[in-house]
Amino acid sequence: MLIDKHNRITDYLRIAVTDRCNLRCTYCMPESGIKYVPKDELLNFEELLRLANIFADLGITKIRITGGEPLVRKDIMKFIKGLSEIEGIQKINLTTNGTVTGKYLKELWKYGVRTINLSLDTLDRERFFQISRRDEYDNVLKCFHDMIEMGFQVKINCVVMSGVNDIDIIPFIKLTEKYPISVRFIEEMPFNGEGKDEGHLVWDYRKILGEIKSAFPNVTKLIDPPNSTAYNYKIENFQGDFGIIASYSRTFCGTCNRIRLTPKGVVKTCLYDEGVFNVKSLIRAGATDEELILAIQEAVSGKAKNGFEAEGRRSFDFPVSESMSTIGG
Ligand code: 5AD
Ligand code: SF4
Repeated sequence: MLIDKHNRITDYLRIAVTDRCNLRCTYCMPESGIKYVPKDELLNFEELLRLANIFADLGITKIRITGGEPLVRKDIMKFIKGLSEIEGIQKINLTTNGTVTGKYLKELWKYGVRTINLSLDTLDRERFFQISRRDEYDNVLKCFHDMIEMGFQVKINCVVMSGVNDIDIIPFIKLTEKYPISVRFIEEMPFNGEGKDEGHLVWDYRKILGEIKSAFPNVTKLIDPPNSTAYNYKIENFQGDFGIIASYSRTFCGTCNRIRLTPKGVVKTCLYDEGVFNVKSLIRAGATDEELILAIQEAVSGKAKNGFEAEGRRSFDFPVSESMSTIGG
């Protein structure tokens, strides 16, 4: 088992399979000048499956595949199939932007994926273009409906940005009336690939909840699942529910159960750390499984108490110039 010094068990691995993406969401990437990781610097699927097996032996039961946009990576379905065959992995979830996802839905279902997090920050076509800098709204909406029709559990990830899509909060809540989905409002983090940090957050979780409560007096609190990063609620008699993720305020670190692998093969034990070690370098230097296990255990053991401590430990790159596409969204 993977246990840290604060007695938290790590059983959830998030793998960012690529830093590439076919959208350019303003909160994630600059418009141009992005230096993608060269393909030979990515962990290849053989290496990733070896690691996933090791992680499963160490008690990881849930894996999220993320990116960048994970489905733009070549042969990604072969990889997901490989993951689905690993004993001990009970859940494979996916975070996707929904642009190319439609054609893979059947296969995803076949390999046991049942929950999909769809990144969608607005229900307005023009604003979608403003935010993502690409004209893919219709495509993504079609994917949304297809996923629901096929029976996937759909979670919408909406990053709330002041003056950009705050007017979408209420329309998203209304969407949960008709559909059995979960909309998750996420506090914007300074991981936009530009080292741009406003230093304060307008739409924190309290303000988001206040906005919803003023439009819908009958908001009920749901019991949050263990290790949930979201505060979960629903509107009485609505089919779906909603959550608020305080990713900037970092209120959920006390129950953190996650570890991350970046596209370059860096192990991160916190979203806010600068990476603990490069597992790809170890693998390519010929490390045995035992050596990899020791390195992973040591990394988990030293996991920061919370995102503030992790941020404080950073030796360089402050404010953070990373993007969620290189961290793993
Ligand atoms: N702040 C908050 N969430 C972000 N994401 C990407 N960049 C940021 C950011 N700067 C999240 C989005 C997307 C997922 C891949 O990562 O919600 O759905
Ligand atoms: Fe792509 Fe997701 Fe980043 Fe948008 S947030 S650019 S969809 S990786």
